[in-house]
Amino acid sequence: MIEAAPVAVVKTTSPDGTRAVGGALAAVVRPGDIVVLAGDLGAGKTTFVQGFAAALGVREAVTSPTFALVRPYTCGAAGAGGVRTILHADVYRLDRMAEVADLGLAELVEDEAVALVEWGDVAVAVLGGDVLQVRLDPGSGDGERLVTVTALGPSWAARAAAVRAAACGPATGTASGEEGS
Ligand SMILES: Nc1ncnc2c1ncn2[C@@H]1O[C@H](COP(=O)(O)OP(=O)(O)OP(=O)(O)O)[C@@H](O)[C@H]1O
Ligand SMILES: [Mg+2]
Repeated sequence: MIEAAPVAVVKTTSPDGTRAVGGALAAVVRPGDIVVLAGDLGAGKTTFVQGFAAALGVREAVTSPTFALVRPYTCGAAGAGGVRTILHADVYRLDRMAEVADLGLAELVEDEAVALVEWGDVAVAVLGGDVLQVRLDPGSGDGERLVTVTALGPSWAARAAAVRAAACGPATGTASGEEGS
């Protein structure tokens, strides 16, 4: 596990609040980026991806990629730097790192895509190491989640200020920015 200080911690109080954080962070991704989503079953990882995809103009309903390990979604409008495809992956049922490596996500995102990988936090190394981690944890109240955003690699550390500004923007609810390390 790579240790790094969170860039931002945002509290959401509803699924839509978590979607708003996902939508806000969609503004800072570029082609080639990988976002790993951490958190227990039902934490809100897919919900986050729904908001992220909607912000990039995906019209299809985003659901858990249960039968396909990786599901592509075409963006309606190119996002920052020309993101045209979102690859939504779920590596929950893969029990060996080699199987995650075999998905080839780091290569698949190279041109005009970004990947969002549920349960990807256990596979950061095989995903290339330079990832943004979004961790969802239950909050103290019903329907509350804490969304902790951490830059785990050099390109994300360099964008920490932009990530923090996006995550803590007015649309995303209660937030606290924290200094990256
Ligand atoms: N603040 C919140 N943010 C996100 N989801 C919430 C929130 N409050 C309640 N929920 C509910 O929690 C559930 C989250 O489900 P979701 O499929 O997004 O989780 P997941 O982390 O992808 O689970 P899995 O590990 O099974 O893929 C949904 O039923 C959603 O309505
Ligand atoms: Mg899910």
